[in-house]
Amino acid sequence: MGGFTVPKYRYPAQFAGGERELLGRIEELLLRGGYVLGEEVAAFEERLAAYLGAARTIGVNSGTDALILTLDALGVGPGDEVVTVANSFHATAQAIARRGATPVYVDCREDDFLMDLDRLPDALTERTRALILVHMFGKAADVPRALRLAHDAGVTLVEDCAQAIGARSHGVRVGTASAAGCWSFAPSKNLAAAGDAGAISVQDAGLAERLRLLRHFGQPRQNEHEILGYNSRLDTLQALILLHKLDRLDTWNGRRAELAATYRERLGHLPLRFQRPGEDGEHVYHLFQVRTESETVRDGLLAHLIASGVDAVVRYPVPLPHQPALAGPAAGRHPCPVAEELARQTLCLPIRPDLSAAEIGHVCDAVAGWFGAEAA
Ligand SMILES: Cc1ncc(COP(=O)(O)O)c(C=O)c1O
Repeated sequence: MGGFTVPKYRYPAQFAGGERELLGRIEELLLRGGYVLGEEVAAFEERLAAYLGAARTIGVNSGTDALILTLDALGVGPGDEVVTVANSFHATAQAIARRGATPVYVDCREDDFLMDLDRLPDALTERTRALILVHMFGKAADVPRALRLAHDAGVTLVEDCAQAIGARSHGVRVGTASAAGCWSFAPSKNLAAAGDAGAISVQDAGLAERLRLLRHFGQPRQNEHEILGYNSRLDTLQALILLHKLDRLDTWNGRRAELAATYRERLGHLPLRFQRPGEDGEHVYHLFQVRTESETVRDGLLAHLIASGVDAVVRYPVPLPHQPALAGPAAGRHPCPVAEELARQTLCLPIRPDLSAAEIGHVCDAVAGWFGAEAA
């Protein structure tokens, strides 16, 4: 295998071909000023809304803040329960706990690793204020069904879209049919800033107005503070970078889908399972999850891949109800055996639009080699 390595991320590759133009714009912005809520922020918000098919979007400084501000704007606080899935990235639950509300966890499904909506009704109580549906690893959850269940229970649906920009549920882009879609543009994401950045997509003008106030100190005009807010604005510089990349996003997501198909084809004969992709366009492959038969196999394969120069990683090794800061009083209310198995059995193979044929070949050979086989 020699010294060949396959890194998880190679951020600068995203600028290939366009860096001169972008650097020129950055230089122009640096010399012009307007760093806070400059014109590029409004331009990006508009372009993002058009891309998603959302009524409006509000740029904020991270995906975590998108969730916190959304829950705040919806009035979620102490005494409330917010239902979410047990196998998300920790920020989903951090936002709930940060608002002083109680996270209530629902297990995920065996086949697509997303919230098991059959189990959702059991988790809803008279204290439930919101449901945060997470489109994990880039795969769209069933938004219409979640909306119906939330509506029947009188609960607000929020989508954590951090990993799934561009994905569609039943043909509609995620983050556009619920009260709010929360987006992250952190550097690892399919649409990535050069640092922290996020947004919220909303349909309701009143909710959007409240979110705009919240992100900017609750300040409609200078020296007027109507409500208690945050300092959570999307930087003009990040908006400029995101504007530059947004046009390329669908091409990159298409490339991710091709790479995922290659993994499935070349590794399909091995004792591995993959996240069910769903209909065309439902999965944008932020991460490519591979499920092994046991923790021993997963750990052995992981160690072998790392020794072979493949930057494989476990996302996520600890289910949220087991995290001390995120457990809350309802952590043990509903057992989450599937989330626990996924935490023990899965790992992610590198997937990024610039992954070369040699790189994916190396990863497939390394995976197959560990099982004493050859890649198909
Ligand atoms: C599912 C999920 N939710 C929320 C976040 C938080 O986003 P950020 O890192 O921009 O705060 C992330 C990613 O980082 C995520 O993957």
